[in-house]
Amino acid sequence: MKKKYKIVFIVLSILLIISVFICYRICKYNEKEVRNKQRKEFLVNLEKKKREGLVRMGERIIITNDDEFLHKKSKAVENFDEKLSVLIDDMIETLHKKEDAVGLAAVQIGILKNVIVIDVGQGVLEIVNPSIVEKKGEQIEYEGCLSYPEIYKKVKRPAYVKVKAYDRNGKEYTIEGEGLLARALCHEIDHLNGIVFLDRAISD
Ligand code: CO
Repeated sequence: MKKKYKIVFIVLSILLIISVFICYRICKYNEKEVRNKQRKEFLVNLEKKKREGLVRMGERIIITNDDEFLHKKSKAVENFDEKLSVLIDDMIETLHKKEDAVGLAAVQIGILKNVIVIDVGQGVLEIVNPSIVEKKGEQIEYEGCLSYPEIYKKVKRPAYVKVKAYDRNGKEYTIEGEGLLARALCHEIDHLNGIVFLDRAISD
């Protein structure tokens, strides 16, 4: 009789251990499922936010090879919101990732908005909805463009320009530029009008 109890006890103990083990595995499996589901949801959400321009994407791809997109006209920015800030930050990063780059227009990264970033070594200029209000003189220099790597052509530009623009917060300001800055301002504002430097190149 005692021996029988002992066997029953052992069998029950084994069954208990097995069931605890099965429960543990099921719980672990569910935890993993939940974690994976949350992970996927996070990534889907992040991609959605990126598409909506609410989250930074970092360095953007620059359109090259005389793609017809580069000849499209950009539109004025109406909302000075978080999306604009994200775009400007991505544009600055994209510009700074390229050696010797001086300016970048939003159209070059596939966005038809009147947004430009310029850095001629005096800090980054964030230029929204620019318009040239004054031009003086002329200069002829070789010019290049991130969208046309390895191509350099002589282009005639004003020696001095005065540009009215807005910063990312919608505050109006004026930029006065000579030399390289005048050239960069004209080159980038041309981009917003669908004009590339090759359209203005002087044959030599
Ligand atoms: Co360019």
